[in-house]
Amino acid sequence: TEPLRIGLAGLGTVGAAVVRLLDQKRALLTRQCGRPIEVVAATARDRTRDRGIDLSGVQWLDDPVAVAQADNVDVFVELIGGDGEPALSAVKAAFSAGKHVVTANKALIAAHGVELAAMAEEQGVLLNFEAAVAGGIPVIKTMREAMAGNTISRLYGILNGTCNYILTRMEDEEIGFEEVLAEAQSLGYAEADPTFDIEGNDTAHKLAIMTSIAFGTRIAADDIYLEGISNITLADIRAARDLGYRIKLLGVAQKTDRGIEQRVHPTMVPIESQIAQVDDVTNAVVLETDLLGALLMSGPGAGGEATASAVIGDVADIAKSRPGRQHGPALGTPAKELAPYEKAR
Ligand code: NDP
Ligand code: HSE
Repeated sequence: TEPLRIGLAGLGTVGAAVVRLLDQKRALLTRQCGRPIEVVAATARDRTRDRGIDLSGVQWLDDPVAVAQADNVDVFVELIGGDGEPALSAVKAAFSAGKHVVTANKALIAAHGVELAAMAEEQGVLLNFEAAVAGGIPVIKTMREAMAGNTISRLYGILNGTCNYILTRMEDEEIGFEEVLAEAQSLGYAEADPTFDIEGNDTAHKLAIMTSIAFGTRIAADDIYLEGISNITLADIRAARDLGYRIKLLGVAQKTDRGIEQRVHPTMVPIESQIAQVDDVTNAVVLETDLLGALLMSGPGAGGEATASAVIGDVADIAKSRPGRQHGPALGTPAKELAPYEKAR
């Protein structure tokens, strides 16, 4: 059987885990998909770095655009990060060349998701970004596919593993902010620029993507009240605990009579609530719908292996699809039919 051929840009925490797991899980994935998945081309900044992965048989190309357009590549997997170059041009180049795209890049989808979804839909290829929201939790597929027909009124969650890790460790061991942020970085949880984590931007990117899918509206990452955790002190955490609360960084989106409201800020949650029990790098998403009431999903929100699980799931979906089959819209609603975003007044 013909393999599904992957071109991979970015071999850091997530990219290296994807290469390693595709190798380790080859037999299982081949059985599940009905054909093997092979990495045929790859790129990163530094060709000489030892990444602890086997790249023999993988063609090294110096430019992400070259990987995206390589003739022998069926799926371009973008694991570089950032909402600008080179990720944006490479993803567009992949679509222009008629390739499917898988990405974990929430900054990119939050900034350009509608345009990219429209390109994918015009080309009849897939744009899959499960890993972009809540790491290993299959929240995009759940909202986009399993929950079709539900009307979502509100969603909220702990969407940043780094912040939740910092808040939990500060509470448990009463160590300082900077020290525990360095731990989160060394565990591979943080963004290349960790201010995106601690100032709430990363949570906002994820929230904006979920809001679009939930409410069938264009992505509005700029219309989010934003406050991160950099000002939270041990004294705040202790005071909250004395009152029966824990502090969590939440992203919240809801439909109101006045329009859509999106916000990201540290929140005091009652100690006995489910969301208060979510610790360390775990993320949690609550979706309130007419058919389900409240659905809560929780699981690992960051880290190489958990994120690679979501990336590989997206690649496997493409391996299972066949040419000519109609693909569902990336944002749940065809990009051209997304309603304008109505900001809450
Ligand atoms: P890393 O910083 O660990 O890896 C980034 C990779 O991109 C590196 O291999 C780097 O090369 C490569 N790279 C950077 N700039 C360029 C460039 N100009 N041209 C070619 N390659 C380049 O990031 P992560 O693996 O942590 O994250 C990757 C993506 O996944 C991001 O979008 C992130 O937001 C997302 N993500 C990450 C999660 C996590 O837990 N880490 C969880 C969910 C999503 P080199 O190695 O040579 O420096
Ligand atoms: N930096 C992100 C986090 C990675 O800590 O949640 C997962 O998106």
